Amino acid sequence: MSAQPIPAPPSVTERKKITLTDLQRKKEHGQAITMLTAYDYSTAKALDEAGIDVILVGDSLGMVVLGYPNTLQVTMEEMLHHCRAVARGAQKAFLVGDMPFLSYQVSVPEAVRNAGRFLQEGGMEAVKLEGGRERVETIRAIVSAGIPVMGHLGLTPQSIHQLGGFRPQGRQAAAARRLFEDALLLQEAGCFSVVLESVPRQLAAYITQHLQIPTIGIGAGAACNGQVLVTHDLLGLFDRFTPRFAKQYAQLYPLMREAFAQYITEVQDGAFPTEDHSLEMSEEEWQSFLQQTQSASPRWWVEAAVR
Ligand code: KIV
Repeated sequence: MSAQPIPAPPSVTERKKITLTDLQRKKEHGQAITMLTAYDYSTAKALDEAGIDVILVGDSLGMVVLGYPNTLQVTMEEMLHHCRAVARGAQKAFLVGDMPFLSYQVSVPEAVRNAGRFLQEGGMEAVKLEGGRERVETIRAIVSAGIPVMGHLGLTPQSIHQLGGFRPQGRQAAAARRLFEDALLLQEAGCFSVVLESVPRQLAAYITQHLQIPTIGIGAGAACNGQVLVTHDLLGLFDRFTPRFAKQYAQLYPLMREAFAQYITEVQDGAFPTEDHSLEMSEEEWQSFLQQTQSASPRWWVEAAVR
């Protein structure tokens, strides 16, 4: 059987801006919500043109772009810098900024101020933060300030030391029950959606069924209302590791390395640049330049330039 061609997405100008209402409607109509991460202008533009619903400027930025061992070192300033680049590239997707470690855990007023910075300085439309019942008061305060909040449960990378590493969550009945309760509490606190990361598919399906707000899964099975992946995993751009739940749609890292190696060889061999990559001056201008510069010594020209 021959592969079906992938239909072209509607052009960005034809597409309408995605809002929270659209995401909620998608859940109600059983339409899957698509979400991917971006950290720069070009990727955001390509995602937007491809027709993505939600772009997350994830703190995964720390690992896949900044080369940190985990997400704990990411700062507010780093997040905002990348949020602004993404906001310049995306026109139609709904934009969510990930609150970094310690930007919302220290005090409620600090959390509200930092969440506000994502909208005011980063060009985002919502924030995401990790945690369950311990975040309820903070989420309520951020939502009361008019800032939409996406929750994040299951494997929450900012707590890796507490969780004992990047491990699946909610596999025992008691842990599953706690996760279910947390999801209900986040909904009640005002979250517009919840990310479920690395949890058993039965549990994700159960939570999805019992919540009115959409769930977005990553390593949580197909029953969630939407799916998210780290774009570097999807593109095969991150060479350190690929989580089991991530599907690689391309393998760009080896391609990138090959292109760089070819460039290096061609520059060393003189095969690049050719005349096709060079600019020409008209013969008349060139002769005039030679006449002017050859009329005096290089020293004289230096002195004339600074005189
Ligand atoms: O930081 C991130 O990219 C995330 C997604 C994996 C949901 O939180």
